[in-house]
Amino acid sequence: MVSRVIPVEPFDLVIFGATGDLARRKILPGLFRRMVAGQMPPESRVIGTARRELTDAEFRAMADAALSEFAPEADRTPEIRATFLDRLDYVRLDALGAEGWDELAVRLRPDCVRAFYLSVAPTLFGGIAQRLTETGLATPDSRIVVEKPLGHDLASARALNAQLARGFSERQIYRIDHYLGKETVQNLMAIRFANALFEPLWNARHVDHVQITVAESIGIEGRGAYYDRAGAMRDMVQNHLMQLLCLTAMEPPAKFAADAVRDEKLKVIRSLEPIGVAEVAERTVRGQYRAGNGFASYAEEAGNPDSRTESFVAIKAGIANWRWSGTPFYLRTGKRLRARLSEIVVVFRDPPHSIFSGQNQALHGNALIIRLQPDEGITLMMTIKDPGPGGMRLTEVPLDMSFAETLGGSGALPDAYERLIMDVIRGDQTLFMRGDEVEAAWAWTDPIIAAWEELGTRPAPYDPGGSGPEDALMLMHRDHRRWREIEA
Ligand code: BG6
Repeated sequence: MVSRVIPVEPFDLVIFGATGDLARRKILPGLFRRMVAGQMPPESRVIGTARRELTDAEFRAMADAALSEFAPEADRTPEIRATFLDRLDYVRLDALGAEGWDELAVRLRPDCVRAFYLSVAPTLFGGIAQRLTETGLATPDSRIVVEKPLGHDLASARALNAQLARGFSERQIYRIDHYLGKETVQNLMAIRFANALFEPLWNARHVDHVQITVAESIGIEGRGAYYDRAGAMRDMVQNHLMQLLCLTAMEPPAKFAADAVRDEKLKVIRSLEPIGVAEVAERTVRGQYRAGNGFASYAEEAGNPDSRTESFVAIKAGIANWRWSGTPFYLRTGKRLRARLSEIVVVFRDPPHSIFSGQNQALHGNALIIRLQPDEGITLMMTIKDPGPGGMRLTEVPLDMSFAETLGGSGALPDAYERLIMDVIRGDQTLFMRGDEVEAAWAWTDPIIAAWEELGTRPAPYDPGGSGPEDALMLMHRDHRRWREIEA
């Protein structure tokens, strides 16, 4: 596949927290790949900052090790690596103190796009934003990049937005939700709005329900301290699943432009039916994995034997607007499930009258499956005649499109972060969350979390390697529907 590379202007990208995990795993390898793809102009520089005492050479050695681990084999010729590493600098800096800021100022050039990536603990976001303004490093055109957790609830999200707004206008703030950088997530918009086929059917009259699943096989991977305070609701639903729901449900924006798209997403979030104490038992399920199949329990991994945090959540959401009234959106996400699988399934209604009555009652009917990972692709489930002489028997078949097969290898698809970083440089906010979106999402999730706390129920236990608690299956069965299997 030959992908078109849109050139960007030369830039200075400052990474705060440059010795951290995200920089090593995603940001530096992502930039490297963009350079290999010809998208990073030679004059561009990446300036790492952190508290640790490092020389430029030591930082480059650290970046080199990160490339060995996280950048694709084929790109790693010594010359290309050297060219990339030569574009890296390091400044030791005390994020909230005085040290290092003058030196950083010296390294920044007036005639380049300037971006500050805050790859640090969220408690530092506000302080760094303030220092950037006080020191004059934040020019009217510079960009600031932050990533979840963007608050712990509505109040803290508002406070964070207010802190950022003191030094930066909304058009300078890039809030990353890395799900929006995934290839298939953007493809969702192409499928919906570049084809006349689906849009007439994309509403409650023709869609029975929508299922959004983000299943992970991993546990909490040493992140217990953060995760045990967050849980699946704050970690995944408030951001990633909400974004998937918005892109699936939103009205067609007037154009493919940042605010046009974000206005439509915001309207969806604001149209979500509230779930409070009265609805929470019927419309939500919380789960927590127990020990089994050779895995420790969630509580053990989190180091909190009495933890009531959910590692799984399922929700029956409703959107109270003309397009979707009466068509539920079932969301589920969890850790230590059978497989890593993220997909959106749009299940269409049955034909109004069946001339094949009495046959194959178990058929699912038409469904459009949009697979985010693994094996990005699209499948349309169709009902056809079972071949052979057995009479008019029906069966289901997939019309399948795997991006890797059709478009020549998913290895060629840019990772979410590399795409998003280049969008920052280009000044394109379409795939970033606006402050009001983040707040609206918290405004919907906060009452659910509060209701769980008020009712004091414990999450239902589930076995590692399965599909979550029984109650999650019941959430669908009660409505005479069922989840698609979680299969790799
Ligand atoms: C992160 C969550 O935002 O997304 C993690 O904090 C989760 O808990 C991860 O594992 C999943 O991302 P992906 O891209 O692997 O699906």
